[in-house]
Amino acid sequence: MVPELRAFLQRAATRVEAALTAALADRDGNSVELLFAAMRYAALGPGKRLRPALVYACAESLAGPAPAAADCDAAAAALECIHAYSLVHDDLPAMDDDDLRRGRPTCHIEFDEATAILAGDALQTRAFELLLACDAAPALKLQLLDELASAAGARGMVAGQAIDLAAVAADLDLAQLERMHRLKTGALIRASARIGALLGGADDTQLAAVSRYAEAIGLAFQVQDDILDVTADTATLGKTQGADAARNKPTYVSLLGLDGARAKLAELHGEALAALAPLGGDTMQLRLLADYIVQRSH
Ligand code: IPE
Ligand code: IPE
Ligand code: MG
Ligand code: MG
Ligand code: MG
Repeated sequence: MVPELRAFLQRAATRVEAALTAALADRDGNSVELLFAAMRYAALGPGKRLRPALVYACAESLAGPAPAAADCDAAAAALECIHAYSLVHDDLPAMDDDDLRRGRPTCHIEFDEATAILAGDALQTRAFELLLACDAAPALKLQLLDELASAAGARGMVAGQAIDLAAVAADLDLAQLERMHRLKTGALIRASARIGALLGGADDTQLAAVSRYAEAIGLAFQVQDDILDVTADTATLGKTQGADAARNKPTYVSLLGLDGARAKLAELHGEALAALAPLGGDTMQLRLLADYIVQRSH
């Protein structure tokens, strides 16, 4: 990993982890310590913090190094709460039934199934509270809430998960697979980028460019997730290798083969970089993030 990217990812992680630690402290004394412990376990485990990094990179590419820093932190934490909740529920026995996540027991193994369900529920609503409490002007705040709600819900990530659950590999053609990926993973990645851009003061042209960039890297991200499920090992991945094949899940590798999936990844990488052209400003972080998404090892 190039040093500029390492430093940027480190800075994004430090900031969002501080915001998450504050957001998930149990200050009310409601005797639900277990619930808060499960929420912190899920949200603060060793993840890559890619969605927060996108919030910061998009905001900074448009507005320079310190666009409303506290609002960016709140938005980054909100995105990571939704993402963490989606992982907790994705791993449940009724869904992917996985026992390893981020190199540790999944939330329902470390705690119990009911606590994991509730931790996911509560992380989801906490995300919206965080956005509601930020200092953005009311009209901007409504836009941010709209972006997050529609990306996370039944027209976004949850729809993608529903398609995934209902399908085995042979059920989907390539167009249907792409639609599933764009929803289950792409929608939240796109929302991260658009929320960052909105916080950076994007105009309509810039927002459209950021959206095209994010749609390409969002799909690329899940294509690489599918590839890594086949090519990486469990220790590097921090989650069980071969889980998709074991469950006969539709993936880019199951439909196109490894070479086909890799070609698709390269094509999407090119699309992402091309989309940045109209942005102006300093897009180095966004270019490095696109490289990282297609080259990442876990
Ligand atoms: C994993 O997401 C689930 C997918 C959407 C493919 P990440 O690979 O971003 O997971 P963490 O946050 O780094 O653990
Ligand atoms: C999960 O996709 C996507 C969401 C959690 C929304 P996967 O089921 O492929 O993710 P992993 O491989 O378990 O991380
Ligand atoms: Mg899944
Ligand atoms: Mg899964
Ligand atoms: Mg996967």
